[in-house]
Amino acid sequence: SWTMANVVDEQVALIREQIGDRRAICGLSGGVDSAVAAALVQRAIGDRLTCVYVDHGLMREGETEQIERDFVAVTGADLRVVDASEQFLTALAGVSDPETKRKIIGREFIRVFEQAALDVIADAKEHGETVDFLVQGTLYPDVVESGGGTGTANIKSHHNVGGLPEDLTFTLVEPLRTLFKDEVREVGRQLGLPDTLVQRQPFPGPGLGIRIIGEVTRERLDVLRQADAIAREELTAASLDTEIWQCPVVLLADVRSVGVQGDGRTYGHPVVLRPVSSEDAMTADWTRLPYDVLAKISTRITNEVAEVNRVVLDVTSKPPGTIEWE
Ligand code: XMP
Repeated sequence: SWTMANVVDEQVALIREQIGDRRAICGLSGGVDSAVAAALVQRAIGDRLTCVYVDHGLMREGETEQIERDFVAVTGADLRVVDASEQFLTALAGVSDPETKRKIIGREFIRVFEQAALDVIADAKEHGETVDFLVQGTLYPDVVESGGGTGTANIKSHHNVGGLPEDLTFTLVEPLRTLFKDEVREVGRQLGLPDTLVQRQPFPGPGLGIRIIGEVTRERLDVLRQADAIAREELTAASLDTEIWQCPVVLLADVRSVGVQGDGRTYGHPVVLRPVSSEDAMTADWTRLPYDVLAKISTRITNEVAEVNRVVLDVTSKPPGTIEWE
């Protein structure tokens, strides 16, 4: 639209003014906000922005490729993908407690991102340049919630982890500070980002790590990724994406269920479908999905994912149930 086209031009001018001929770094999470913020800054300063995407191995099917391929194709951004899945899995080995998982994932994320940032800084230094700016996809509601402060930050404070090293302090660039979510999506569209990215539903930072009830292993992630991809595909095919706030698919990895599949009895695992409708994730209701869509998802998952022999539907509102199971 006309207004959002203006927002793009305005922000690009402001970013150029702020950064000048210096360099910036931006962490991409796979979500809308960081992608739009990065695309705006890329438009303003081109290759003096370096984007870093930490692949923790806990993303859903196709999401990493979407950033690696589609985001880069559209924006021309200089992107470094760090494959850290082995490191995350090692750190998560033997851990079942949800909050411990979150802490570990957060901690490893910062370690990997910090190292990547140091590499970017070292490369810039070879050309006599410094990296002074950190781009963040902070939205207006985040600004209000945090009391409106701005200025400098380092990677740790951004992720709410204490104890900061001085060498990684940046001036913040927050081009989305005045915008609401739907405006950010519109800016993303203006910048040519694909609908799959711009319309992406909320997805937790710890990813599928908190959707495996029990220990996180590579095998379990593969099972959940397959089941989740089928659910998402069928919900999209039924044009239900805008009706649903999000639909976690949860693998009950420590629960075994008996089934008959193919030639005989199986002893597999249930997955839970958790479709919710919500305005802001503070409260939610379970979405009354059409039975034929549920049937299709159930049939396909149990046919196509060997380890899963049961699909169950979560019919709990929030409160009392949270949206995620962990
Ligand atoms: P709950 O489960 O608390 O989730 O009803 C509310 C919203 O927050 C998302 N969520 C998270 N997002 N890190 C995140 O970035 C997390 O650890 C986390 N836990 C939950 C959830 O997907 C929902 O949108």
